[in-house]
Amino acid sequence: MINKNELILNTVSIFKDKFKNKPDIISLAPGRINIIGEHTDYNLGLAIPTAINRWICVAISKEKGSSIKLYNNNYKFDFNFSLFDEIYKDSSWMNLVRRTFKIFKNEYNLNNSFNIAINSNIPIGCGLSSSTAFTISLINAISKCLSISLSKSEQIILSQKIEKISMKTNGGLLDQFSILMSKKSKLMLIDFQNNGIKYFSQKSLNQSWIVVNSKINRELSNSKYNDRVSECNKGFNFLKEKINIKKYSNLKESILNKYPINDKIINKRIRHVISENNRVKSMYKAFLKHDSTSIGRILFDSHKSLSFDYEVSCKEIDYLIDCSSKIDGWRGGRIIGGGFGGCTINLIENQIIENYSKIINEKYFKRYGIHPDIFPIVFSNGAEVNKYKKNIYNENL
Ligand code: GLA
Repeated sequence: MINKNELILNTVSIFKDKFKNKPDIISLAPGRINIIGEHTDYNLGLAIPTAINRWICVAISKEKGSSIKLYNNNYKFDFNFSLFDEIYKDSSWMNLVRRTFKIFKNEYNLNNSFNIAINSNIPIGCGLSSSTAFTISLINAISKCLSISLSKSEQIILSQKIEKISMKTNGGLLDQFSILMSKKSKLMLIDFQNNGIKYFSQKSLNQSWIVVNSKINRELSNSKYNDRVSECNKGFNFLKEKINIKKYSNLKESILNKYPINDKIINKRIRHVISENNRVKSMYKAFLKHDSTSIGRILFDSHKSLSFDYEVSCKEIDYLIDCSSKIDGWRGGRIIGGGFGGCTINLIENQIIENYSKIINEKYFKRYGIHPDIFPIVFSNGAEVNKYKKNIYNENL
């Protein structure tokens, strides 16, 4: 896997090859993991995410005119369009690009040409938030080029707005917060009811966080995701008629015994959200006590809840978790992100990482004919954007 510096150098050299000039700005946005607190953000609950050491890099220069010349190295694709083009539906990343420029044109009077090279080592569409990283890196690149200074909250709101329009998802703010607010080696406890963040460190436990990419495409995930959002709306509206909910994360599961929701599915969805918020609280305490047995158990409980109550897992991911649970030294793990495929996050004893990867690879391949991608992650800084200066990146010219 290439590191951040190599990714930047690589992107700069692609930019120079394509446009025969140097970029003005380098913008980087990381992927994210979420240790716990899944599908709680749009329910005003809690989560513990952070950014990871995988990035999308945008190299950009401002030119005269009104045309955008973009090269996406991940798809080996040249994408050229004019600021005056109508928006029509093409692939999702192109749609994101068009929408972003349209918004800058309408809201910030953007009237320039741009040359752009994009390059990323975040696996795409598998629960590590590659599309929010894409949007944020682009927003930051364009705004820096135009000397528009956007606060973090403006970046968060703009990115959510662009993704909502172009991807038609009613997501919460988990991804934007993780990508913009993370700090190196830290986790964040976020309360989405007031957007408060508490930073804390994980003491070295002789264990690593390992991502396993099932390579199962999250097909139809957007519409199923939106179904979950509206099921939760219905469930919480029902509860709000019965009780005064001051703090969503303080609800206890027993409320559903007192006021059962007569739709079984919605009852299950709400049970997941309430129990997940309580798991976030327990997880935070477990981190403070460096109690890795509890951390592992809570992860596993979260997976069961996401699989049975929230029904956002799939057989391949359940199989990965089931195989993992039989390996000594696997502390716990679960599906991450929106679900319906994608990745698992696992806490693993350092001395078994190699063996773990071997066993999971063999078993998963035998069952599904797919080699999963298995890699460790570290907690990283959020997005950054800088003027391009060749000596910063130790470039050899
Ligand atoms: C997706 C959404 C987030 C969040 C997660 C589930 O990643 O973009 O807002 O809802 O799913 O926790």
